[in-house]
Formats: sequence, C-alpha cells, structure tokens
Amino acid sequence: MPDTAVIAPEAVQTAQWTKKDLLGLRELSADEIRLLLATAESFREISLRPIKKVPALRGKTVVNLFFEPSTRTRTSFELAAKRLSADILNIAASTSSMTKGETILDTIKNLEALKVDIIVIRHAAAGVPQMIARHARASVINAGDGAHEHPTQALLDLLTIQEKKGRIEGLQVTILGDLAHSRVARSNIWGLTKLGAPVTVCGPPTLMPAQMEQLGVTVTFDVNEAIRHADVLMLLRIQHERQEVTLVPSLREYRLRYGIDRDRLKFAKPDVLIMHPGPINRGVEIDSSVADGPHSVILDQVTNGVAVRMAALYLVAGASNGGGAADE
Ligand code: CP
Repeated sequence: MPDTAVIAPEAVQTAQWTKKDLLGLRELSADEIRLLLATAESFREISLRPIKKVPALRGKTVVNLFFEPSTRTRTSFELAAKRLSADILNIAASTSSMTKGETILDTIKNLEALKVDIIVIRHAAAGVPQMIARHARASVINAGDGAHEHPTQALLDLLTIQEKKGRIEGLQVTILGDLAHSRVARSNIWGLTKLGAPVTVCGPPTLMPAQMEQLGVTVTFDVNEAIRHADVLMLLRIQHERQEVTLVPSLREYRLRYGIDRDRLKFAKPDVLIMHPGPINRGVEIDSSVADGPHSVILDQVTNGVAVRMAALYLVAGASNGGGAADE
C-alpha cells in the first residue's frame, strides 16, 4: 500500500497523474501542475524530520545523467531520491563512456539493461529528454534541456510563491534578464499563465526573443515600469554559455541598466518577492544587498527544490507502476 502518511489526503484522492515522464510544463494541464505542487507540499515536512526518510520509492533505481554542470538540481534530485529510499546513481557525461564515442541512446539502453526505473537528464541541446523518453521504458525527468524547459525549477518557483504569498492566481510576476536563453523563464511562463498569474518580461532587446507575446506575456523594455507592478520579481543571469556572440556591450552596462540594487528596489512594492533560480552573479543582475536582503526568497527556492523533486520522482514512478509508487 502507498505510504499515505507522507501524502496529503487531498493529493491522494485527486491523484490524476498518468504520465510516464515529466518533460515540460507546456504539456501539463493546470490540474497536473496543482497535483505536483500538492504532492510536493505534502513531502516538504519530511526534510524537517530528524530522520529524513520514508519508504515510498524503496526498491526503485534513479539515475542522474548530467551533460551540463549543476549544483542545485543534481544534488536536490539526489537528496529527493534518498529521502524516498530509492537507490541513486550519478553519471557525469564527461567521465562516462560517451567520451569514447558511445551514443546517448546506447548509453540509455545500457542503463536500462541495469534495470533503472527513472532517468533524470540535463542536456545542452533542446529536445534530448523528449527523444530519450520516446525510446526508453524507464521514466524520464527533464532537469533542463538547452534553452527549452526546466520544469522542476519552475515547479519549485511556483511552490515558493504559493508558500510565501498564499496563492499564485492573480499575482503579477515580472521576469527580468536574459529571456532569449532561459529555459527557466519558458517553464515559468507556461506554469504561471496556466495557474492564472499575469507575466511581464523585461530585458535588453538583444536578449528578448521575437514574438515573445505569443506565449501570453507582456513585453516591456522599461525596467522601472516592469518592477513597479510586480508582486514577484524573478531575476535571470546572462547565459554566456549559450551565446555564440556577446549580446550585451559589457557586464557593467548590464548592471547599470538592468541590475537590481537597493536603489532600484525602491520602485518595487513593499512586499515584493525577489527570486532567482541560481547561480546568481552578484554585482551583475543582482546586488548583494538584494540577494541577501529581506525580500529575497532565493534560498527558500533551493529548499523547495527537494520537495518538488520528491513529488516528480514519486508521481512518475507511480504512473509507470500503474499508479502504485509506494506499493510494497
Ligand atoms: N537553477 C539551477 O538549475 O541550478 P543548477 O544549474 O545549479 O542546477
């Protein structure tokens, strides 16, 4: 039987999760997003216990397969798996046999021969998790693919907004920074708009994709205006690793025009939430006085990442089991 002590009753009763994989928020309904958040909420207290472990995924094997660097996502998936009693393997592409010419699909076939149940993958190319999900029997969770989606980051952002503001619907959210290269922004735009939060995006014109409005957001290049109406201000770093040419004149200029410091924060609402997916670049998109200040919930986002990843692992494992992730 499922370990119902670790799942909120309403989450169990309304459980409608049928997907083998978690690939992006674009393909999820508002109810599926709410189910993930309710499940994460019910898992949050496990991390506060003296013994931070429940048997929900005992006997399951999870692989973290990361082709790009990560601190928060990789470690929180590992902690999430361990807190659910799953076994977890960590594979860095740079030290795997892919450096000897093995293809990614052959690597996946070999992992499946080792009877893994869930593959968590981060890759620099958009669409790789989706391609693997089509070929694999195991469940696939997207831990970030190129500039496409980072669904568990957006879910932990939604959980943090819900925790701090008591709701998501109707809140004005501004996303400020390098929109062109941000998978976090894309996943958040899907999630926030599906849950009824209007989104404004702002950043340098060279880092703003054409036709952004088609995603259902408001575009502005006036930073003070973007800040003024925000209940939540999400800051993004400039993703130099995804730029073939430099798209801003200098970091100093970026800081002057778009960086958030104590002076610029005076334009914001008194109860604005400052969020950032990390890693932060202090003194560029965010000043230390703001990153470490009273409005910042940046480390709360990191904390919520474990509960969200526990929920993601639990639900996809249940779906591939026919609905009984914790059946014993
Ligand atoms: N936010 C995020 O994805 O951080 P990492 O790159 O450290 O995983």
